[in-house]
Amino acid sequence: MGERTNITWHQASITRAARQRLSGHRSLVVWFTGLSGSGKSTLSHAVEQRLYEIGCRSFVLDGDNVRHGLCRDLGFSEGDRMENIRRIGEMAKLFAEAGVITLTAFISPYRADRLRVRELFDPEDFVEVYCRCPLEVCEARDVKGMYRRARAGEICDFTGISSPYEEPLTPDLTVDTGRLSLEQCVDQVMSCLKDRGVLPQP
Ligand code: ADX
Repeated sequence: MGERTNITWHQASITRAARQRLSGHRSLVVWFTGLSGSGKSTLSHAVEQRLYEIGCRSFVLDGDNVRHGLCRDLGFSEGDRMENIRRIGEMAKLFAEAGVITLTAFISPYRADRLRVRELFDPEDFVEVYCRCPLEVCEARDVKGMYRRARAGEICDFTGISSPYEEPLTPDLTVDTGRLSLEQCVDQVMSCLKDRGVLPQP
């Protein structure tokens, strides 16, 4: 704790409001959560593409990528996942502060961790999107072959197999990624952003 008392907060002269004006739209965090293989990355990148096409600044923070850099020191124990989500939450906050629509694609399996992130934001600046896809479907898809390896005992603490996934109880939006087409899922997220007044007026 000691060191922290010597650190002060520098107030930026360019405010978030000014950055949002420059972007031409509001910024916020869209937090995708769901099992591995539920379509979080695919959906967030497809939403990013749509946003790009209508001239919005956005950025996807993705578990598989962030774990190569910022979070390369972390594994998949409960404590490491908690720290992973804490760091991503703080990073997402910086991105939103920069006037960017920030999309995050992390399993984020624990309710408590997701709640801690939500609490970093004003309610209108954080949207939790549950990518709902039954375990059987994720496992049948097995895009990265990880479920098979987890079943074979080659990967421990694997979400849905040997580590829990706590479904969101009151997400801001639930998208049935196991049942709907990618197009339909993107439409749902875009209309949620529209309802929240995030998108620029045509
Ligand atoms: S989280 O639980 O901390 O939110 P995160 O989204 O960053 O996880 O990383 C998940 C990705 O790491 C998965 O898509 C998968 O490719 C890979 N992975 C490797 N080991 C595991 C594991 N034990 N459990 C879940 N995912 C794992």
